[in-house]
Amino acid sequence: MSYLKLLEVLDHNSMNGLSNLLKKEFPTFFENINHGDFQKWSCVVNELPSVSSSTIDLNKGNIVIGKKSDCSNSERKLIKKQLKQLMPWRKGPYSLFGIYINSEWRSDMKWIRLQDDIKPLKNKLVLDVGCGNGYYGWRMLGREAKYVVGIDPSLLFYNQFSAIKKYTSNCNIDFIPWGIDELPDAELCFDTVFSMGVIYHRRDPIEHLKKLAKCLKTSGEIIIESLVIDSHNLDVLIPKERYAKMKNVWAIPSLKLLIKWADSAGLKNIRIINTAKTTLREQRVTEWMQYESLANFLCQFDRKKTIEGYPAPVRSILIAEKP
Ligand SMILES: C[S@@+](CC[C@H](N)C(=O)[O-])C[C@H]1O[C@@H](n2cnc3c(N)ncnc32)[C@H](O)[C@@H]1O
Repeated sequence: MSYLKLLEVLDHNSMNGLSNLLKKEFPTFFENINHGDFQKWSCVVNELPSVSSSTIDLNKGNIVIGKKSDCSNSERKLIKKQLKQLMPWRKGPYSLFGIYINSEWRSDMKWIRLQDDIKPLKNKLVLDVGCGNGYYGWRMLGREAKYVVGIDPSLLFYNQFSAIKKYTSNCNIDFIPWGIDELPDAELCFDTVFSMGVIYHRRDPIEHLKKLAKCLKTSGEIIIESLVIDSHNLDVLIPKERYAKMKNVWAIPSLKLLIKWADSAGLKNIRIINTAKTTLREQRVTEWMQYESLANFLCQFDRKKTIEGYPAPVRSILIAEKP
């Protein structure tokens, strides 16, 4: 994947801290990846047939790229076969040349919960930290963002993104397969920074928020989505081992504590715009994600609890600004 357009945008917007690091790291980054499946996934993407998409609609629940009539039956069969080799598809849905990728998560439901409360994205530079396979980045482009940069350390998600991007190559969106710790220490100046579903995976949530704030310009907006617990106090749930079978869930805050973390990180105009219980409609097993899902993570006898006996997943969205 070429990052030339991204480098130009970063340089043009005085984000040389990031562009210089990319220029230094990227010539050898992909060659040095030491992950058993990376080569296999890259080949899957490379072997996707070249087809031009006559339509792109980024404002529907499913990201629509291309029509069924854009390719032959054999090309569509091959595309589907290749995409299936990139399973599990956790975020979506997507519709590619009429192939409906019914992902584990109905990611569109989260987007609906926040779309009317965020500042307009038109002509904005957006960073999405922990972007999954990039689903929300496409929705941000649908809102006419000038450029979207997603970062996520998952190499599978990087390849899923690359497969979609192959059919939309002119779109102003890129995916850097890095975790947030790989971002430079330099101040960046994105207009809006999203970080959804990441903070409870971080050992130091306030540092996470400070690092995100460093990526924002003054008065820029930050959108944080997190699992939360139901408490009016400054409480936190620290799972003993797993939470809803997830590893690496370090701390699930109450809303009051989440707001306090944002305040401690120096953010202002902090508000919670939505709180919603995760339902079996939003997260479930599908043809494209055949492992366990929410139904298996909840207690069989009491759906209000996880299998470990913790409160079942509830998620909130916090919005704030950089002073
Ligand atoms: C629960 S998923 C959320 C994905 C997407 N943002 C969403 O809201 O649906 C968490 C994502 O964070 C990514 N992640 C984990 N550690 C990270 C880190 N240190 N920096 C950036 N992303 C990270 C994971 O790979 C995963 O894709």
